[in-house]
Amino acid sequence: MRRHCNAVLPTALLLAASAAAAQPVSSPPSDAQVKARVDALLGQMTLEDKVGQLSQAAGISFGGAPGPEESLRRGGAGSVLWVNETKRFNALQKIAVEESRLKIPLLFGLDVIHGYRTIFPIPIGMASSWDPSVHERAAEIAAREARAAGVHWTFAPMVDVARDARWGRIAEGAGEDPYLGAAMAAAQVRGFQGPYLGAPDRLLACAKHFAAYGKADGGRDYDPVYVSETELRNVYFPPFAAAARAGVGSFMSAYMDLNDVPAGANPWLLRDVLRGEWGFSGFVVSDAFGTANLVTQHFARDGRDAAARALGAGLDMDMASGTFAKNLAALVKDGAVKEAQIDEAVRRILAVKVRLGLFEQPYADEARAAAVLADSKSRAEARRLAQRSMVLLKNERQLLPLKASLASVAVIGPLADSKADTEGSWMVFGHVPAAVTVLEGLRARLGSAKVAHAPGPEIRREVPSFFDDFIPGPKPPKQTPEAGEAAFRQAVETAKGAELVIAVMGERADMSGEAASRASLELPGRQQELLKAIVALGKPVVLVLMGGRPLALEWEAANVPAILEAWQPGSEGGHAVADVLFGDVNPGGKLPATFPRRSGQTPLYYAHTTTHQPEGSPMYRSRYWEGPAEALYPFGHGLSYTSFAYSNLKLAAPQVKLGVAVSVSVDVTNSGGVAGDEVVQLYLHQKAGSASRPVRELKGFKRISLKPGETQTVSFSLGPDELRYWSSFERRWVQEAEAFDIWVGTDSTAKLHADLAVVR
Ligand code: NOJ
Repeated sequence: MRRHCNAVLPTALLLAASAAAAQPVSSPPSDAQVKARVDALLGQMTLEDKVGQLSQAAGISFGGAPGPEESLRRGGAGSVLWVNETKRFNALQKIAVEESRLKIPLLFGLDVIHGYRTIFPIPIGMASSWDPSVHERAAEIAAREARAAGVHWTFAPMVDVARDARWGRIAEGAGEDPYLGAAMAAAQVRGFQGPYLGAPDRLLACAKHFAAYGKADGGRDYDPVYVSETELRNVYFPPFAAAARAGVGSFMSAYMDLNDVPAGANPWLLRDVLRGEWGFSGFVVSDAFGTANLVTQHFARDGRDAAARALGAGLDMDMASGTFAKNLAALVKDGAVKEAQIDEAVRRILAVKVRLGLFEQPYADEARAAAVLADSKSRAEARRLAQRSMVLLKNERQLLPLKASLASVAVIGPLADSKADTEGSWMVFGHVPAAVTVLEGLRARLGSAKVAHAPGPEIRREVPSFFDDFIPGPKPPKQTPEAGEAAFRQAVETAKGAELVIAVMGERADMSGEAASRASLELPGRQQELLKAIVALGKPVVLVLMGGRPLALEWEAANVPAILEAWQPGSEGGHAVADVLFGDVNPGGKLPATFPRRSGQTPLYYAHTTTHQPEGSPMYRSRYWEGPAEALYPFGHGLSYTSFAYSNLKLAAPQVKLGVAVSVSVDVTNSGGVAGDEVVQLYLHQKAGSASRPVRELKGFKRISLKPGETQTVSFSLGPDELRYWSSFERRWVQEAEAFDIWVGTDSTAKLHADLAVVR
């Protein structure tokens, strides 16, 4: 065991923090410089100091427990989460850098998921843009705001592939597809971290929840995941691998059992794959209380066992559970854990602190924070990115865009005027919702006199969320059935008086996200009943959907002429919806997740393997006897106010050698009357191989803008990266000399086809 050393590090060596905020570092230190500083620090640390760096303390106290101050003074925690106030960041930091023995700055972590002060669409919404620059830009602005306020580290991006819409956290990711998910994951890492870890105005990012959290049994949050290695490697890992390639500085392990070994204490996952295969050199944090939960999960005998096994598996930091803090030093003293193992984890965390420039600039500048948070340009960006996120699901007889000459509009529904529900499911700790609602957006566009509103009956979770306690403000009591009935009648009356009805319906913010799974996917509450009563009035009706997951909208799709998926569109959501409804902006988003017809179809995703009854077989028209088995709206679907024609699909060569790339091109023409965006999508299918391959897999996409009549040739490259897969038969990555189908088009049912042969 290393000898305790009480000397304080020389100031010059540490470039110790000064109370005044110094200039941020403007170029990254070299690996050798980082190592030298980490070595020097490590040499000064007691075992207890080291364990402190592996412990993340909660900045809020649970059940009257004391705050983290005392522990910080002793060097008992290296990181703090769940604080979100500049003054408090600075006060806690002062304890660490001025009162603790080694003066190692704290790393402040927070969930900055789709915005900090300026709120952008929820991640599934941003992924619907099929434009990675949307995610990148939102993350960049969120980073600038959060870093100015004093946050160093965001627990984002959430890159879990989710193929089961019942799972509430589908809202937080990029949907069902590994290829799209990988592009969105890398974009967010670039946006949060910037050109290098420690770049000014950026944050440390965290790819979570490693891995396969989205495959929870039955879509029930936290339930165990049973997943084959094939599916892990081909479907659930790619966005994580992409985040690692993009240089993400940290990973968060998932809570649940992964094939019976909790992800947070799974050495195959955290050591073999993450570090061994992918060469990840950052650190891994548990999910909140996750290390203590290893006992609850009946995996570890007690806290001691949990700490030893989590650390041994490759977990570096214990989020909020105190399990490392309580047990690791004793485990080393007993010889059950080697100090070298602890050193390894401490090094990774200190290296990140050095790279982030925390030793030079531990404090946030309050005046600068106020200025950055008041920057109105960020709101304009929120509006633009929200516009790009919207998906036009249906538009019968061109009901949309609406005419500016409309005499009167009724805006109906429980989500029409709710700021919190417009901002979405991941609200930053302590944030007060300040979104423009759809009602406000429409009133701003048309003038208040023309826009009537009635919310209809309330919708609420039948089982309340434990997160409700964190939402500031009084909680309205449950609506009585009588009041609900009166609200229903009022909504129908309001609709009667208008020329056109805009129904804003879907799910409230607390109906998706963590601990927000559902067993049914219909519109909750009496919304469908109200929609039926409104449609029965015979007026044109537009349904604006807000929420965090694909819904089962069989009736709505058959009976409502126009449907716009707005997701939870963020701070400027109401303006963005109005922009799209009135055609100032032509919607160009596409679905990143399949919409089922009925709840019982879940999990439903386009990239399934085929059966012995081929797709579309007349013998076997549906796998359900009471209805079709296909999607209501397929993956990649999204309409525009214009139309696009695809032609001239060409491969540079019909045959290509293994390991060589081939280029694919297609002409896309705006064949309608207005300018618009199209997401050109390329899918492939390997016709035979050492293992069965999905009927289609996305392997290229590009969002382009075309004027009426304009044609653009769009090219993709299909090389070994796109053509390889992990074969369960070979138990390795393979690229095989086989025949492939290629389709290019507007969604995952694209018909324009070409053949490709890969040969030896
Ligand atoms: C639990 C959630 O699963 C995770 O996504 C989040 O980052 C942590 N809590 C911290 O708030």
